Amino acid sequence: MSRVRYFTAVAVAVFFASACLAQAAAPPRAQPGATQMPSIVQKNGRWALMVDGAPYLMLGVQVNNSSAWPATLPEVWPAVDRLHANTVEMPVYWEQLEPTQGKFDFSVVDALLAGARQHKVHLVLLWFGTWKNGAGHYEPEWVKRDPTKYPRLVGPNGAPRDTMSPFGQATLAADKAAFSALMRHLKAADARHTVLMVQVENEINAYGSARDYSPEATQIFNGPVPAEFAAAMHVKPGTWTEAFGAEAENTFQTWSIARYVEQVAKAGKQEYALPLYLNHSLSNPLQPPVEGRLAWPAMTDHVLDIWKATAPSIDLIAPDIYMSQYAQYEKVLDAYDRKDNAMFVPETGNAAPFARYFFAALGHGTIGWSPFGLDLTGYANWPLGALVVDEKLIDLFALNYRLIGPMDREIARLNFEGTLQAVAEDPTVHTQTMVFGPWTATVAYGLHQFDRRAEPPGNADPTGRALVAQLAPDEFLVTGVSARVDFRPTDAGGGKHREFVRVEEGTYIDGKWKFLRIWNGDQTDYGLNFTTTPQVLRVTLMAY
Ligand code: DGJ
Repeated sequence: MSRVRYFTAVAVAVFFASACLAQAAAPPRAQPGATQMPSIVQKNGRWALMVDGAPYLMLGVQVNNSSAWPATLPEVWPAVDRLHANTVEMPVYWEQLEPTQGKFDFSVVDALLAGARQHKVHLVLLWFGTWKNGAGHYEPEWVKRDPTKYPRLVGPNGAPRDTMSPFGQATLAADKAAFSALMRHLKAADARHTVLMVQVENEINAYGSARDYSPEATQIFNGPVPAEFAAAMHVKPGTWTEAFGAEAENTFQTWSIARYVEQVAKAGKQEYALPLYLNHSLSNPLQPPVEGRLAWPAMTDHVLDIWKATAPSIDLIAPDIYMSQYAQYEKVLDAYDRKDNAMFVPETGNAAPFARYFFAALGHGTIGWSPFGLDLTGYANWPLGALVVDEKLIDLFALNYRLIGPMDREIARLNFEGTLQAVAEDPTVHTQTMVFGPWTATVAYGLHQFDRRAEPPGNADPTGRALVAQLAPDEFLVTGVSARVDFRPTDAGGGKHREFVRVEEGTYIDGKWKFLRIWNGDQTDYGLNFTTTPQVLRVTLMAY
């Protein structure tokens, strides 16, 4: 999908009919205490996370891997508050939850629930079970110490690897039991739906081995592809090699893991039907995979169809985007922005250049976006020692949520209805356009107030972002950071120009627009100039 997105007169008409209804129904900003079960819904090819009956936008943050402990939470909550996040992604560690087989300790989960409620945020819990970053490090000791019962994946040279076999029946049974216990506990302890979604496992994989080469796995690999899977993948029945050729091992490995995860997810859902999702690590989206040699076989968008066919209990599959280049980021968003998949970015980099990509994700209809590791535990992944996660860095990301937070429900609704477009600055192209039927919004970067250059220079660091939503045929909600937004009639040959009839700055309070002042003069004569001050406009246009 290109950055320039069109929507038709039909879509506009449907939107205005439904917007009037939906606007009246939009509830105030959500706080933990929702009474309805969260759900992922789809309408006209667009997606929403419904929380208490209305679309919800997760202004997320994920804590560092070892931060979801009562001892560390005092260094987490201040970062969450400062960030103005409304949703926090917290791991649940299998090794902590079930230190002795069958004996569950929910004290840490309960501390997460209590803290989230106190800080008026929702939670997304991450089940660090059989797989975490392609390894099995979060299994309890009783699993780790019994490789005969809980087998590791066997590499091509016959040696055990640092990850679990997806054919370990006892491992599957144990993971299912633990995940089910977690979901059962949530059902009992979280009637107010502080928890919105649960991630099943984490970046599942088997780095460095195309598949499990254990005798059992090899026997299954040499047998026929299950008929249902062959049909779903549109291949002729036969052995894995006959059906998938050079991709046979990768396909087999992904299918084996997806089949395992489906059973874990299904068991958990039977206890408590929260939306479940999976997070994918990625390969470079600008380089096509080398046939038969995907470095990370079970993940990346190349295997989305396999997951969709094999794991129907997983509601959505989400990319963890740590690539800071604009072209890569957009390419990943394109790949996961599918009619059969709700867009969600559960992890993204926490260095400054990533902050603007919240808007790129909004432009792809995301239900949430979440930088990784923005807590105040003193830890930073990239690059070790050089990036400091402190209040200053948090504030760069907080700007997004301070801007969007007061109107997060409106933004979620407008996005679900397909009337919203948003962009992040591309350092190679300094203007971007968004087409709304007869009006085209233009976004320019790097111009000072009185600069009308047709070729803007771009910001020194590409930090710009902009969002435009159509509220009525000639009325728009507009906001941005370090960007100039203007409008022109889409029909350039018509000889018409745009006039700002009225530009109101305001804010949403409990779902209602509150007028603050009218922008005019320097603030509008050259376009609508957004700085790093959070400002939201409602703009009425006419053509003359
Ligand atoms: C992706 C994983 O999903 C996270 O848990 C974390 O390990 C980050 N990578 C990077 O630290």
